[in-house]
Amino acid sequence: MKHCWSWIDKRSFSFNHATDCAANFVNNKTQKNRKNADSLINRVNLIMNSFSTNKIVVIGAGNVGQAIAYTLMIRHQVSDIVIIDRQIERSKSSAKDIAHATGFFTQIPVRAGGYDECRDADLIIMTAGINRKPGQSRLDLARTNVDIVTGISENIMKYNPDPLILVVTNPVDIVTAAVLKITGADKNKIFGSGTILDTARFRFIVSDILKLGVTDVSGFVIGEHGDSHVPIWSNVHIGDLALSEYEKQFATPIDKNQIEEYIKKAGADIIAGKGATFYGIAMAVARIVENFINDKHGIMPLSHKLGEEFGDWAGAVISMPCVIGRSGIEKTIMPSMSDEERKKMDRSVNIIKKMQKELGL
Ligand code: LMR
Repeated sequence: MKHCWSWIDKRSFSFNHATDCAANFVNNKTQKNRKNADSLINRVNLIMNSFSTNKIVVIGAGNVGQAIAYTLMIRHQVSDIVIIDRQIERSKSSAKDIAHATGFFTQIPVRAGGYDECRDADLIIMTAGINRKPGQSRLDLARTNVDIVTGISENIMKYNPDPLILVVTNPVDIVTAAVLKITGADKNKIFGSGTILDTARFRFIVSDILKLGVTDVSGFVIGEHGDSHVPIWSNVHIGDLALSEYEKQFATPIDKNQIEEYIKKAGADIIAGKGATFYGIAMAVARIVENFINDKHGIMPLSHKLGEEFGDWAGAVISMPCVIGRSGIEKTIMPSMSDEERKKMDRSVNIIKKMQKELGL
């Protein structure tokens, strides 16, 4: 253990080494005390992040952009946060408001800036665009938001011809396809938050119904971040147990239709109640940034362009589980799924491809 902490003085240890040390400690001690050990890893993450330099540019100072900047700041995940908005006063006020919150602990600069800040950004997070109103689908926003991000992407390219961009603007699959086309970047470098939020909602509601810890529910929602998304029920696990086995063992069949309705309507329900969703997506983005910045090679369902190996699905910009690290999307994973789930995924891909075609993406 002594060895693990020596890096704090020397400040010469790499992030990965420090977390490896913590992980070793965890493995040696844990089984008994996993929670304390996890919190040790988190603390090591926080300290290491405060020594590394990672600049994030958030484009768009609306609810989502601000919540993302605030969440990254509060989690000490990055060392410099710049907010860009076409309404300069809005970006300045957002940055100032978040910066004041840093007055209670370690200072991470949160500032407003212009597109020149993209020059040395490690990651650019695109949130600009209009939001849907009650009664609209995400796809209804496609034309307007593709126009908005076209101008923004051209501005980014003036200063950074090789950007890494995480798209959050809806409809996220279509907007990711647009940013990919306009920047002409490698397909691994432009990715969207996709169904990571649907997946979080899925795990949340399943764990809530079964009265289990959310981290013990695993499973993905893939496809469009929208009405045609596909929960992969056949691969849901509770702890190490397949969901179907768990249902049998505890005689607790769960109502899958009810859960599907819940996650499909979750965004619209929140919008109907308070006008926008932003905390869930902010934490989802924070998890993506954590995997990217720390080169963690975590697996998450993100929107990205599928390669030729996906046959009929190739060319669609849509969510599939993928490995995310410092270079962006490292590989896409084909999850095992039932015939019915595959058919639903075919439908989701067709919806996205049709819209890509209509918009020339
Ligand atoms: C969400 O799912 O919360 C976002 O995509 C916002 C929306 O329009 O639902």
